[in-house]
Amino acid sequence: MKLFLDTANLQEIREVVSWGILDGVTTNPTLCSRENLPFEDLVREICHLVPGPVSVECVSTRAEDLVQEARKLCQLAPNVVVKIPVNIEGLKATKILSAEGIKVNMTLIFSPSQALLAAKAGAAFVSPFIGRLDDVSHHGMELVEQIVAIFENYNLETEVIVASVRHPGHVVEAALIGAHIATVPYSVMEKLVKHPLTDIGIERFLQDWKKVSLK
Ligand code: E4P
Repeated sequence: MKLFLDTANLQEIREVVSWGILDGVTTNPTLCSRENLPFEDLVREICHLVPGPVSVECVSTRAEDLVQEARKLCQLAPNVVVKIPVNIEGLKATKILSAEGIKVNMTLIFSPSQALLAAKAGAAFVSPFIGRLDDVSHHGMELVEQIVAIFENYNLETEVIVASVRHPGHVVEAALIGAHIATVPYSVMEKLVKHPLTDIGIERFLQDWKKVSLK
């Protein structure tokens, strides 16, 4: 399973790159708004740091404008993937861009039918937002199950990015379902590796090692 970091923060990206487990990054306008660099400089710097795809979101609303914006974003770095919200204009743009070889991540997916249409339009990735569904009393992970099943039924090559991840359980469930990717905020990424018994175990071994080295 691939792990992406859901952030536009350079320090967080540098840190997780150093762990040796990072496969990509997803950003969105909200995440970019929290950073201080001009947008294009920020994207270039993220793309330089990350050894994999970096999703950058388009903010146009009409298909022709989305296409122009996406083509411009792709010129910033070779690993840019354009993120386009799933609606009719987004589908039209995705069809054109995917035919040009531009990778599209269709975002804000909240139903299996949206994911199916996104895949048919040629999206390289779909991003179902699990946490936001959980927030409104749905079981977000059911959506991932449905999308993965549909894509398997028809051998669709579109990869499923489990997004809006709130805790390590989301990542484990996504992996058990067989989703291709989870995009994870830094705070959750840290929790994925931590376990109190590991910390207690390390502490005990270090204390006991002192007795060994005294002999
Ligand atoms: C995914 O690509 C989005 O950037 C992100 O996962 C949204 O998560 P949120 O619901 O925590 O804003």
